[in-house]
This record gives sequence, structure tokens and C-alpha cells, in this order.
Amino acid sequence: MRWMAQVRWPPMRIVYVIGTRPNFVKTAPVVAAMGRRMPEGRHTIVHTGQHYDRAMSEVFFEELGVPAPDHMLEVGSGSHATQTARTMERLEPVLEEEQPDLVMVPGDVNSTLAAVLTAAKMQIPVAHIESGLRSFDRTMPEEINRIVADEFSEYLFLHSDEAIENLRAEGIPDERMHFVGNTMIDTLVALEERFRAAGSASRLGVEPGGYILVTLHRPALVDGDLLPGTVRQLTELAREMPVVFPVHPRTRKEMEAISAEHPGLLLSEPLGYVDFLSLVADAGAVLTDSGGIQEETTYLGVPCFTLRDNTERPVTIRAGTNTLLGLDPAAIAGIPAALTGRPAKPPEPPPLWDGHAAERIADTFA
Ligand code: UD1
Repeated sequence: MRWMAQVRWPPMRIVYVIGTRPNFVKTAPVVAAMGRRMPEGRHTIVHTGQHYDRAMSEVFFEELGVPAPDHMLEVGSGSHATQTARTMERLEPVLEEEQPDLVMVPGDVNSTLAAVLTAAKMQIPVAHIESGLRSFDRTMPEEINRIVADEFSEYLFLHSDEAIENLRAEGIPDERMHFVGNTMIDTLVALEERFRAAGSASRLGVEPGGYILVTLHRPALVDGDLLPGTVRQLTELAREMPVVFPVHPRTRKEMEAISAEHPGLLLSEPLGYVDFLSLVADAGAVLTDSGGIQEETTYLGVPCFTLRDNTERPVTIRAGTNTLLGLDPAAIAGIPAALTGRPAKPPEPPPLWDGHAAERIADTFA
């Protein structure tokens, strides 16, 4: 007698809703693992269009090997309400047509919120990738998105164990939680050989280990009074060591609006994944207000300074790589001193940040 491979019948229909640059990085390995595990299933990708510039979107589909989206909602930019409402309005007919058994969403952006609300109201089960992160700061739009996404998702995929307590405190039962690890790190591990060989620092003319890589994009930092002081501090820092700064479109617009002078800064357009991770891996330090970069630097053991008052990723602080600087740009001046005499130690990635999180997600369904 020959044993047949176990096939789920009827085949599962899954809709993945993604919309922003970090979403693509978090979801790519999940789409791949689910497809491998359920080749008979229907896997449909919806791109909301929250990010739409080639440098913020297409490049990532190409580099990460995500299949081209089956549906493009083209919601674009707008106020939070507009963006969320537009996504819901355009996603509903797609879900009507696809009749999925499951909607999968990553992260905490407006596309995530809109997809979860749309699916939940249509009584379609939702799986939330990167569940349970909390900054405990409800002035952050992402915090509201996280809370709603977790409340209305059936399957909560956690990337760090601290998420368990956060979810329990909101009355979410353990049965919905699956501690699987970090899918963003899956992508990093899959492309590590390529970005290690990319040599982006040398192409920019900076020494590996000898420059600071900067990314800034949060409204709290770039939309208000803090931007001029931050750019001034960066130009001061550039007198001590090269500052490489790929500029997010939101930040570029704000810098142009205030006509910020930036002598000495090595500015560029947003970079693709391989080029950017090459720069992270070779940086002396990274200065950022991003969430995902706090994680990537932790995995790679690169010192990270976070220009925020709080983080929903305390695991990166405990790992010893990430330092919260607060929102005051004056703190940037302390970075060179903080780096001197810092003992080099091998990176110690948090539990299950091992390149296999997406497979563990697929295990839940296959
Ligand atoms: C969103 C997420 C944030 C995430 C970030 C990553 C929410 C609430 N915020 O903010 O959590 O960290 O993405 O980048 O969902 N723009 C372009 N081209 C693009 C995208 C944006 O020019 O492809 C410009 C638009 O003019 C817009 C601004 O950048 O005004 C901000 O775009 P928005 O859609 O708000 O996204 P992010 O600020 O990127």
C-alpha cells in the first residue's frame, strides 16, 4: 500500500492583503511557505496601493520574489480615515468574489486595519502576522491598528514572547496565540548571502563599519517642529563620521518644504531591500524611527539608536543592540561617544528569529 501525501480538501482559499513596504518584507516568506505547503490551494494577493512609488513597492515584489498581485486597489495616500475607508470599500467586492477561507494580514499599517475590519464584518477568519506588539502609546496610529487587528483576528502569529502578556492583558485567550517567530527575519536570512555580497557601502564610497545609516519617516518626527533640529544634528554628526540617509518620500517632501540644508549628508532615494540591508549589515550604527529596522539590526548585531520615546519591540532593547534616544534631536550628538569603547559581541537573535517563522505559520493550517 502506498501512503498518499495529506491534501487538504476542499483546497483552502487564502487572500493576503498587503500595502506598504514593510508588509511586503513580512509577507513574502509566508506566501511562499503557504504555497509550498498547500500547492492545491488558491493563494490570492491583494495590493492595497498604500505605498505606490516604484521604489516603495514594485522593487520589493521583484527582489523578494512575491508573485504579482492579483488585485490592485490603488488607494494611494490620504488621511487615515480616507485611506482606511477607501481600502475597505475596494476590498469588500474582492472578498465577495474570492470567497476566501482566510484573510492574512501583516503588521500595523492602515491597510492592515482596513483588511481586518472588512474581513471580520464578512465573517471571514483573519490571521494576523506580527501580533501582540504594543507601544502603549495610543497617539501612534499603528497602536490603534494593532489593537483592532488582534481583537478581530482568529489566528495571532507572535514574533516575540513578550506579545503573549500584552495579549493576555487585553483578555485574548491563549488558544488564538501562536508563537512562531519573526517573518521579517525569514526574509533577511533568505537574502543574507545576496546582501552580504552586494557591497553597497563601497559603491557609495564609505568604509564598512565607519558610517551611520539613517532612516526617518514617522509623522511625529518629520511632520512637525522636530525636523529642522534633527537635520541640523545630522549635519553636525556628519563632521565626525559619514552619514548615509536614504530618504522616505514623506520625509523628502517635508525637507523640501522647510528647505532643509544638509551639508555633508549622503542622501539618496529609498533603496531596494538588498542594497539597504547591505548598508545595515556594514554600518557602524543605525539611527532610525522605524520598527522593522530595530529588529533587523538586532538580528545582525548592529548598534541601533531609535529616535522615539517608546518602542513596541522591547525585545530589541533587551538584546542589547537597540537604544531608545527619545524624540529630542539633541540626543543625536551623543552617538559617537556611545559607540566608542562599545565591546563587540556576537549577535544573539531572540528566540525563533531563525529564518523558519513562515514555515511554522504554514504548519498551523496544513
Ligand atoms: C506607513 C505606516 C507606517 C509605516 C510606514 C512605512 C500607517 C498608519 N503608517 O506610513 O506605520 O511605518 O508606512 O513606510 O499605515 N508617499 C509617496 N509614495 C509612496 C508612499 C507614500 O510619495 O509610495 C508619500 C505620500 O505623499 C504620503 C506620505 O509619503 O503623504 C506618507 O505616506 P503614508 O501612506 O502615510 O505612509 P507612511 O507615512 O509611509
